[in-house]
Amino acid sequence: MSRNKKPSIEAGSSGSRRAFLRSSIAAGGALVAGSSSARAQSDTAITQVQDWARRLGKGVDRTAYGQPSPHEKDVVRRHVEWLTPSVQTAVNFTPLHELDGIITPNGLCFERHHAGVAEVEPDKYRLMINGLVERPLVFTLDDLKRFPRRNQINFLECAANTGMEWRGVQLNGCQFTHGMLHNVMYTGVPLRLLFEAAGLKTSARWVMAEGADASAMNRSLPMSKALDDCMIAFKMNGEALRPEQGYPARLVVPGWEGSLWVKWIRRLEIGDEPWHSREETSKYTDLLANGKSRRFTWEMDCKSVITSPSPQAPVKHKRGQTVITGLAWSGRGTIARVDVSLDGGRNWVAARIDGPSLDKSLHRFYYDFDWNGEAVLLQSRAVDSSGYIQPTKAELRQVRGTNSVYHNNSIQTWYLKKNGEVENVEIS
Ligand code: MTE
Ligand code: CO
Repeated sequence: MSRNKKPSIEAGSSGSRRAFLRSSIAAGGALVAGSSSARAQSDTAITQVQDWARRLGKGVDRTAYGQPSPHEKDVVRRHVEWLTPSVQTAVNFTPLHELDGIITPNGLCFERHHAGVAEVEPDKYRLMINGLVERPLVFTLDDLKRFPRRNQINFLECAANTGMEWRGVQLNGCQFTHGMLHNVMYTGVPLRLLFEAAGLKTSARWVMAEGADASAMNRSLPMSKALDDCMIAFKMNGEALRPEQGYPARLVVPGWEGSLWVKWIRRLEIGDEPWHSREETSKYTDLLANGKSRRFTWEMDCKSVITSPSPQAPVKHKRGQTVITGLAWSGRGTIARVDVSLDGGRNWVAARIDGPSLDKSLHRFYYDFDWNGEAVLLQSRAVDSSGYIQPTKAELRQVRGTNSVYHNNSIQTWYLKKNGEVENVEIS
């Protein structure tokens, strides 16, 4: 299914190209101002009083939970029919192409369940710490809320995000290629405090985190990571966790693959070696070209994607001032820079990162350019605070082969056509 498209695009030297792009930003501004001043003369949407200004608006809603404007009804999670055989062992995707900034609204966070959404009653919620501890403990939700709290914004990316694209182009839209990703402010209790309460034995090296859902999803976590920055979260973006995100409590494992972030968490067993459970042996390991599997790929490598323009977010104007925007993130820290290419990776220009640059959190980048209306091969490439540079797909395949599903952090190419439509392509 891979497509090799190479529309002839002038490469030019990057220096002169930068100068051209700088001067054309000003020209693009003039272009938008031009069409906007024409509109001021004749556009009835601004010259006439509209219906919504002739009568009183809808009254204040006194009880209900607020909803987005009905005009935003298409901003929803979506799934891929052939990918999920049942709704319980399913995944849906965050509409990244519709979002801006860095925070994912709660109702739009993608969901991944191995056994559906567990409907845990908060009164009956319990979290147990057992194994190599001085005092096995069982906490209620209220008990957890009495510990000192921490707030942190972290991305969660499923290891399988972009997995369908390993062998070639498959899905037309960043919602589907990159949408197993969300970025949320979590409020919760550091694991370190809970473990201090239980008293770790000197042989304590590993933690087994287990969910209360029917899959009893469980993963082994090294104690060093658990004590470093992990927590049990009970709030997301200020409100209670959504049922699909693990209500009433989940494990937060900043920068590490999503399957470690156990939802509806019910037990933390402390041990001296990993458990090698199903989800870290037959699944969530990386099958290499030589047939061997790489175990425990915890950290999410540095990655980025242009969210607009993209296949679900085509360009509606013919030419002129155009905003290119996207997301960059790394499981190893912050994003040092993002470059954008308009010619499939031959020349690169620095994008502008805007908004907070937080550890193990999404970063928002922009590149404002003057589109001449010709076809463009759009790419973004992120560099993280450790100096790691996001690889091309070819570079990644050289190291990992094509058998993999998980941990595809390669550079994505979007083909912006003359008519403004955008297609997912692969270039070699
Ligand atoms: N925890 C439990 N208990 N059950 C699950 O099925 N899925 C895991 C993880 N935690 C899962 C779980 C996987 S594979 C991912 S990617 C994340 O949760 C998804 O989190 P989200 O549904 O909040 O996006
Ligand atoms: Co996952």
